[in-house]
Amino acid sequence: MKIYEKLLADNKAWAKSETDRDAEYFTRLALLQSPEFLWIGCSDSRVPADKITCTQPGEIFVHRNIANMVVHTDLNLLSVLQYAVEVLKVKHIIVCGHYGCGGIKAAMTQHSFGIINKWLRNIKDVYRFHKEEIDCIEGEEERANRLTELNVREQVFNLAKTSIIQSAWKHHQRPDLHGWVYGLDNGIINTIFELPAGGPIDPFYTYDNL
Ligand code: CO
Repeated sequence: MKIYEKLLADNKAWAKSETDRDAEYFTRLALLQSPEFLWIGCSDSRVPADKITCTQPGEIFVHRNIANMVVHTDLNLLSVLQYAVEVLKVKHIIVCGHYGCGGIKAAMTQHSFGIINKWLRNIKDVYRFHKEEIDCIEGEEERANRLTELNVREQVFNLAKTSIIQSAWKHHQRPDLHGWVYGLDNGIINTIFELPAGGPIDPFYTYDNL
């Protein structure tokens, strides 16, 4: 069996076990999704959103990219965000980073990684904002972990600045925004930062052109 064929075989076995457990499982799921959460996480294969939160299909709407970034020119992210907030009406948005993030580590070096440089640019900006604090920390790993936390907080602010969130806060008093960091070495999620719905709405945060 080729390695990818195992995925297909496991899929069939999984589908059968779900239908054995509940014959209507897939027909019910196919009718609608009403997740309460949007998850913005890292693409890292070790941080599967549903597995680490024990959420089932239909419970969590997911967007993942390198280092869980919220970039205002990223049409992919903005489309996911708009759909989650305006159509699915999610109540919580979670930006979840993780310690030991390769994207964060790469952004702290001067190496060139090709096209990824353009993406890392956004993380390097977060590093620059907090350079004084980070550079005082002993140990490379510790510095990267602190940037991971600060980056999550910065991405929560980036979410808050979008007209999608500003408008939802103004008209619907939702969603709450959460910044979390997952530990690869212990499987535990730490809560880092929170912006409840209705948070700062002022000229600094309002970008109406998005
Ligand atoms: Co990562």
